[in-house]
Amino acid sequence: MGYRFIEVDPLTPRIGATVSGVQLAEMNDDVFEEIHAAWLKHLVLFFRDQKLSHEAHLALGRRFGELHIHPAAPYEGGDPALMKIYTDANSHRNNGEGWHSDVSADECPPMASILQIHQTPSSGGDTLWASMYEAWDHLSEPMRAFLADRQALHVADYTGYYGAHSPQRESPRSLHPIARKHPETGRTALFVNSGFTKRIDGLDREESSSLLRMLFEHVKNPNFQCRFRWTPNAVAIWDNRCTQHMAVWDYYPETRHGIRVTVKGDRPVSQ
Ligand code: SIN
Repeated sequence: MGYRFIEVDPLTPRIGATVSGVQLAEMNDDVFEEIHAAWLKHLVLFFRDQKLSHEAHLALGRRFGELHIHPAAPYEGGDPALMKIYTDANSHRNNGEGWHSDVSADECPPMASILQIHQTPSSGGDTLWASMYEAWDHLSEPMRAFLADRQALHVADYTGYYGAHSPQRESPRSLHPIARKHPETGRTALFVNSGFTKRIDGLDREESSSLLRMLFEHVKNPNFQCRFRWTPNAVAIWDNRCTQHMAVWDYYPETRHGIRVTVKGDRPVSQ
């Protein structure tokens, strides 16, 4: 597709693209329409040097849909929709260290996440994304047939995860299809992740854990991935319905700080 208002430069043929020629806080509906089309095609988009106030960041999220409130994460500016991403020399872990799709344990998990990193370490702190369309398509036909109508249990447990911060609500748990049909593209995505998926429904414990272990390894294939090197005030917008991501913590004891606005999705349906 040709674009009239934006330039789109793919990071890989399968996932990720950098978009230039736009300030997200100032775009009109025509520009948003092109960004939305590019987002469905490339799954995660990157925008450098963005001037986004808290209000503009929230308004950008609302262009995609109703905002999602994280069950337990600390937030900024008194607004729980402004999730804080912060790691420094006193941290014992970072946010999003393992492969995951954001809060997939929610009954209606987030469709989009919009992260701006304000402060970057002098090097490192990259984020990786993987295409779950590719992960699904690269399973063998018999494995796809076996998984096609199965569901898996996703469980979040934030007990003690965010220190003294009191949770916004109870930690969720939900059964979701393993082969998820994307509501906008119609493509099938593998929808299990090592962060939240605990059990394949209907299998015994050993069968379930062996199969999940295989799938968690499968999604780490570098051929399904892109990797983004942050610069201060860059923004990433990703589609949680068809990707997973992980944030690398290789910059201790330096500080990395950003804000994520997240958008509610629909209840996952099978292919
Ligand atoms: C997350 O939203 O999982 C954090 C991603 C990051 O910090 O790069």
